[in-house]
Amino acid sequence: MNSNHIRQQTLASITERYEAQASRTLRDFMIAPEIFEQVDSQQIVFLWEHRREVLRDFAQPDTPSFLCDACLNATLRYTYHRNQFLNFSDDYLALLAQVYQRLFSHLLDMLQTATSMDKFSVGFREIVRQHHARLRTLFGAYCQALHPAAFAEHPFLESVCCGEYSAPLQLRLLRVELESLREPILDLGCGSRGEVVTYLRQQGFHAIGLDRLSPELPGFVQADWFGVDFQQNTWGTILAHQSFSTHFLHSHQHAPRQAERYAKTYLAILQSLQSGGIFHYTPGLPFFEPHIRSLPDYRLETRLIDAPNIPESIRAISYAVIIKKREYS
Ligand SMILES: C[S@@+](CC[C@H](N)C(=O)[O-])C[C@H]1O[C@@H](n2cnc3c(N)ncnc32)[C@H](O)[C@@H]1O
Repeated sequence: MNSNHIRQQTLASITERYEAQASRTLRDFMIAPEIFEQVDSQQIVFLWEHRREVLRDFAQPDTPSFLCDACLNATLRYTYHRNQFLNFSDDYLALLAQVYQRLFSHLLDMLQTATSMDKFSVGFREIVRQHHARLRTLFGAYCQALHPAAFAEHPFLESVCCGEYSAPLQLRLLRVELESLREPILDLGCGSRGEVVTYLRQQGFHAIGLDRLSPELPGFVQADWFGVDFQQNTWGTILAHQSFSTHFLHSHQHAPRQAERYAKTYLAILQSLQSGGIFHYTPGLPFFEPHIRSLPDYRLETRLIDAPNIPESIRAISYAVIIKKREYS
């Protein structure tokens, strides 16, 4: 078995481990560790039988960081898909990366030193158990630092699903007319399917999607919107359907310190519009838009969402916002 095959097989085992827990919640992860710590015997047999090739592959300079990145990405996807309002800082991500580096280093030691498959099996199961304990400690510290509460009722462990919608629906709710779209177009929080960007690119538009979970395809940037340099005078149109403003609203209601970052990023987004450029988003931000109305360079309009049965609780924010930057001649 060559090195490429070993790597594909290792990646497939990592994916399988996450898929096996697809029906679980973040609360399960914190309070029912035994479910997540299980190790498939076939994976143990594979690692043991191919230990020489695995060790050879690990000796290549890029392998450990490649596998750590794969685990880190899979963990972020798993976590953010379960609660879209979680948002890890760079410091947290650096610590998470260390947890995976440690896992692979312990696995290597075990592969080098175990004298039989039975001993490897016992040792490997213990490594996975300790690894999960470290993951729980780290995630638990994140939850408690931001919101001290017992895990049984901790709000961060609630499932808050992240809906994704068809391109025609998103464009209709945002009140976007294709004929008046200016390029280049940025879809901020385009989703893991990137529906709008794919659709617009098929129509010949120069469109880019940005999302921390965006597809790994041309035309998409996988990034956190807080880490992006929104360069001034760049975009003809910026779209954000149930993404940036949804998260700003949630922070405004539940995490005021984070809300300040959203306010700053919102202003950076406006500055990144070309003259005459347009920012479309929904839901609305009634607590923030009066400030934008006072800025001389921008004209803000709102349009009610024409959908039936909007629940009373979200009627006040159920509108589309269209902000046009003043055109300089
Ligand atoms: C409800 S989904 C909407 C996706 C898409 N616009 C749609 O309507 O189908 C919200 C998106 O915002 C993205 N998101 C949340 N926080 C983010 C962040 N800090 N940086 C980049 N994307 C983020 C999520 O990954 C998710 O794909």
